Amino acid sequence: MGFKELLAVILFVGYATAQNYRVCVVNGNQDLCAALDNAGSQAVCDNVRTKVDCALRLERGSADIGVFSEEETMLLAHQFPQQTHVVATIRDVSRQEPFAFEAVAIVSGAHTGGFEGLRGGKYCHPGFDQTEQRWSPRVLKTFEKLVARTDRCPDTQTDRKTAEEIEVDTLSKFFTSACRPGPWSANTTVDADLKSRYSSLCSLCGDNNPCTNYSIDMGVGVTGVQNNNRHIQALECLRVNNERTVAFVAWQHVREYFTIRNPQVATSFAALCEDGSIRILTSEVLNSLTAPCSFVKQPWSTIVATRARSAEVLTRLREWWPNGVNPGGNTWHTTLFNSIIGGNNARIYYQDVPVTNLNYTQSIRSLPGIDSSSSCIPARRWCTISAQEHAKCNWIRGAAYTLGIEPSLSCQQKNNMFECLADIRDNTADFVVSAANYGYLARQHFRLSPVKLVENSRSSPSSFTRVVALLKESSNITRFENLRGRKACFPEFGGLSYVAFVRTAHERSIISSSECDYSRAVGEFFDSACAPGALDNSHALTESTYNATNLCTVCKPRVPVPSGDDFVCSFDDTNKYYGNVGSLSCLADPDTDIAFLELYNIDANLRTAGLQPSQVRMLCRNNTLALTTGVTLDQNCLLAFVVDSEILARRNDPLANSLNVLLDTLDLHFGFVSNSRLIDLRMYFAFDGVSDLLFRDTAVGMSEPNGAVNEPTRNYNELFQHLESCTGSASPLPGLATKNFLSIVTLIVTSVMTRILMF
Ligand SMILES: *[C@@H]1O[C@H](CO)[C@@H](O)[C@H](O)[C@H]1NC(C)=O
Ligand SMILES: *[C@@H]1O[C@H](CO)[C@@H](O)[C@H](O)[C@H]1NC(C)=O
Ligand SMILES: *[C@@H]1O[C@H](CO)[C@@H](O)[C@H](O)[C@H]1NC(C)=O
Ligand SMILES: *[C@@H]1O[C@H](CO)[C@@H](O)[C@H](O)[C@H]1NC(C)=O
Ligand SMILES: *[C@@H]1O[C@H](CO)[C@@H](O)[C@H](O)[C@H]1NC(C)=O
Ligand SMILES: *[C@@H]1O[C@H](CO)[C@@H](O)[C@H](O)[C@H]1NC(C)=O
Repeated sequence: MGFKELLAVILFVGYATAQNYRVCVVNGNQDLCAALDNAGSQAVCDNVRTKVDCALRLERGSADIGVFSEEETMLLAHQFPQQTHVVATIRDVSRQEPFAFEAVAIVSGAHTGGFEGLRGGKYCHPGFDQTEQRWSPRVLKTFEKLVARTDRCPDTQTDRKTAEEIEVDTLSKFFTSACRPGPWSANTTVDADLKSRYSSLCSLCGDNNPCTNYSIDMGVGVTGVQNNNRHIQALECLRVNNERTVAFVAWQHVREYFTIRNPQVATSFAALCEDGSIRILTSEVLNSLTAPCSFVKQPWSTIVATRARSAEVLTRLREWWPNGVNPGGNTWHTTLFNSIIGGNNARIYYQDVPVTNLNYTQSIRSLPGIDSSSSCIPARRWCTISAQEHAKCNWIRGAAYTLGIEPSLSCQQKNNMFECLADIRDNTADFVVSAANYGYLARQHFRLSPVKLVENSRSSPSSFTRVVALLKESSNITRFENLRGRKACFPEFGGLSYVAFVRTAHERSIISSSECDYSRAVGEFFDSACAPGALDNSHALTESTYNATNLCTVCKPRVPVPSGDDFVCSFDDTNKYYGNVGSLSCLADPDTDIAFLELYNIDANLRTAGLQPSQVRMLCRNNTLALTTGVTLDQNCLLAFVVDSEILARRNDPLANSLNVLLDTLDLHFGFVSNSRLIDLRMYFAFDGVSDLLFRDTAVGMSEPNGAVNEPTRNYNELFQHLESCTGSASPLPGLATKNFLSIVTLIVTSVMTRILMF
């Protein structure tokens, strides 16, 4: 290439990158991206999974432009206060208000006594399921929090209660009656229970109304005011109850109601302000686009740009859409406007200059500090095991906080699952999402119990955990009995594959079902094995007198030790045979005979271990060899077929109910299916391009640990029941050990006494 050509290329590349603005597009809109690829377009698609991924890309400058909803803008100001810039807002063309909404409290014009003057009064609320205004739980509860102080509960007994119960209980003591329709909890059982116990908070909804909506007589409809709008209904509830009644509604609808529907009574009502004063709804007040005082002002959704290019982006947007409206016609400008800004109902208002996210929201709506906000139930501490998991957890925490979900979350990063399990046991963390592999250790050693099971998409290979026994094809083993005195490979001591073998060995009577020391049982049956962690206290299943060294002698260090002393039993990657891939490497070792492991990712894992499918064969649970070599999903062949993962907490944690319901709430807002997604953050998706953080990417929801409806759940519970039902000679952990010791003493004493008496 000559100098001239090179220069041309450099100029061209420079020109192309300078001209192209990378616009976040969620879930690849093919038509849009193709249209933008056409010559002349200054924008290119930057495909992202979620708006949160877009924010992360804008922050590090790998995307240039993103569009964020109202609540996403609030979240952005919290997570990235200075890192990215708001260049414009997007509003509804039919609305001139400077805010997306203002939430106001309307009372009788004769009201006195500020907030306290409402004690014993009535409360009309638009409802927790109203979608027209996109009010978050935080917005929906703003007023009641201030007047009834539902966030202060100095003397409340919180044990076994949910955040919702404490809140509704306090509220019901402040207002004598109310209509607060819609779900009070994401957990339907809790919701139904509270609705029946606190029915006074539903008594204004109408006769025989199950608190789902208003069924009061709305009278004849008036053009321009929708009788079925919840805010209008709440205002009607206020009008008919009048004295000592408050309606918490959107200012926009207050104007409609009192200027169009009921102008004759407008001046008999007033807006109640945060300082307790009131503003009569005169025509002058009602003519104003902004409320005389309000409890929440919501910023409009925004166009946000990466910091380094924000001024440039602002200039460019003004060129693309000079009037801020859909230009129409068949150009890329129109296509892009329709796709990311909105159709004909959206209008862009440009900032004079780009401002930081926090600068934009602060003057409109600010949230109390995440650590200083009061709540009756302390933040539930989520244990994470990597920096990336921690980052994802922190965004979930920030989003939950922005939306006002309670109790709040905190995130604690540890190095591995065992540190998390120990922290939860020691009450320095509250919960963790844990693979089924740790299920037995978590129950037996750490005394934890499941709050939820994680549900995975049925079509995905990771939907359930499957454990198999794999032999080398060259092996002369045909039955479990043949395994005595051989060499075995396990991914981890006490892990799911290990205990699945123990259970099968019990079934086949090759190890005594009265031997409850599962390290002795396995260690004495095999010649030796690699069961990483077998000598570590963190993995102890029982108080054992067994020297488990032979459960480690098959293990090999990843990096050979020069001295030749290659003894290793670590449960991390320093042990070459640790984990499911490690167990296959272990099986590839000519000295070993069998490996017990999980099937997840088996094809890739076999390749990693250098094994061909034709070199291995499964030994089935019914004690026959699989008919073919390789690995098949034959259900009868599996040693275990159980759930994939679960959420663990301390056994008997008095706050377990509130955690359980919090998880339901997170699933509602950030889960797989959501009708009320205010923030595009997905708990079960890859985060920032990294898969399987906190949850596997294939997760679709959570279920109850004891609501055993499917086979894997039943199997999982049965496996632990089987293991825990062992009542042989060995004693389980400390507490029980003492008990057994006492009963043995009792037994000896009794038999001595019997002998004495007999002679
Ligand atoms: C209230 O909700 C019920 C169902 O829960 C519905 O049948 C009814 O039509 C609704 N009433 C009004 C006035 O919207
Ligand atoms: C943000 O606001 C502060 C004070 O209101 C102002 O001094 C600062 O220049 C603003 N910064 C940006 C980038 O908008
Ligand atoms: C099976 O093979 C092992 C060595 O791999 C050998 O020690 C043993 O005797 C063989 N057993 C039978 C029954 O052939
Ligand atoms: C366990 O056995 C190994 C080898 O058999 C021995 O080196 C080690 O000292 C023993 N450990 C204990 C605690 O007895
Ligand atoms: C054991 O299970 C395998 C795999 O499903 C099956 O092919 C075989 O017929 C079963 N054998 C017996 C004896 O049930
Ligand atoms: C609802 O919450 C309770 C705890 O208060 C829990 O026991 C129950 O399993 C949860 N889920 C459902 C679907 O009710």
